[in-house]
Amino acid sequence: MSDYPSRVYIAEMGARDGLQNEPLVGTQAKISLINALSQSGLTHIEAGAFVSPKRVPQMADSARVFQHIERKTGVTYSALTPNIQGYNDAMAVNAEQVSIFTSASEGFCQSNIHCSISESLERFIPVMEQAKLDGIKVRGYLSCVIDCPYDGATSPQQVAHIAKKLFDLGCYEISLGDTIGTGTPIRIGRMLDAVLNVIPRHQVAVHFHNTWGQALVNVHQALTMGISTVDSSVAGLGGCPYAPGASGNVATEDVLYLCQGLGIETGVDLEVVTKAGWDICREINKAPQSNVSLALSAQTKKSR
Ligand code: HMG
Ligand code: MG
Repeated sequence: MSDYPSRVYIAEMGARDGLQNEPLVGTQAKISLINALSQSGLTHIEAGAFVSPKRVPQMADSARVFQHIERKTGVTYSALTPNIQGYNDAMAVNAEQVSIFTSASEGFCQSNIHCSISESLERFIPVMEQAKLDGIKVRGYLSCVIDCPYDGATSPQQVAHIAKKLFDLGCYEISLGDTIGTGTPIRIGRMLDAVLNVIPRHQVAVHFHNTWGQALVNVHQALTMGISTVDSSVAGLGGCPYAPGASGNVATEDVLYLCQGLGIETGVDLEVVTKAGWDICREINKAPQSNVSLALSAQTKKSR
């Protein structure tokens, strides 16, 4: 039996998770991408990251991006912030929401943010305190919820344990990352079962990378379990610099087409997102990592 939600909310990752792992893209191209995506009906766009520019040079211009995008009413433009320094930098350019991030595995946590899981949670306390004072919502990402590139398989119990810690810190939503994209639906289902024992369904999001081509079936698995927030990346851009070989998030175009087919409302215009994807792919000289985008492109050429 499936328990599809009637509406799915997309958290658009292309400008952050996507472009953090592509060759350097000009600031104006990022701004144009975000402005184009803002016209599609998306309500959440992650627009940049306030992390060490030495570690992730692709995100070094995030302040300028936030300063120059045309903000559309009804769209939340969020920023990734690993610590209070990142939080303050994000606030200085009026990010509407921030995301903190840790891992369910120690190996990835050390590689990605140079600390243990428990140290990362300590670092988040001042961020959460300041965000509460400022009235800013905080999202929590949890990486390596299926496998870790350094430590191997992650148990569903461990995922639930750390997810609950992030939730108890005050995150309004926990986004569960299959960072290296090795998950398959049965394992995703077991992991979600464990998390849904400790966090309300409507506060759980899924964030699947597509390295092994499983991201869309894994999204479908999550939808059958009533999950209604899906992170995805226009044109399937990106990956994580600290998860070698991992490819981008599931493509937004593919999730939108799936939802259309299932009769699930998203409020997002597939054509507008697809066009934004073509434009950024032309800019970075890469084919869209989305079957739906490629099919629409072929259809458009044929009808000319
Ligand atoms: P650190 O290396 O542990 O050390 O940084 P630190 O705190 O002592 O700082 C070292 C240097 O970074 C110092 O500069 C700090 O000023 C600077 P230096 O003295 O060497 O010139 N620094 C900062 N600079 C800018 N913004 C900041 C900031 N904080 C310190 N906020 C830190 C810790 C987390 C900052 C660093 O390790 C880092 O930036 N790591 C990169 C993390 C990252 O962006 N990873 C990719 C995104 S996560 C992801 O993709 C996964 C996700 O999509 C979910 C999934 O798929 O699973 C979310
Ligand atoms: Mg990611």
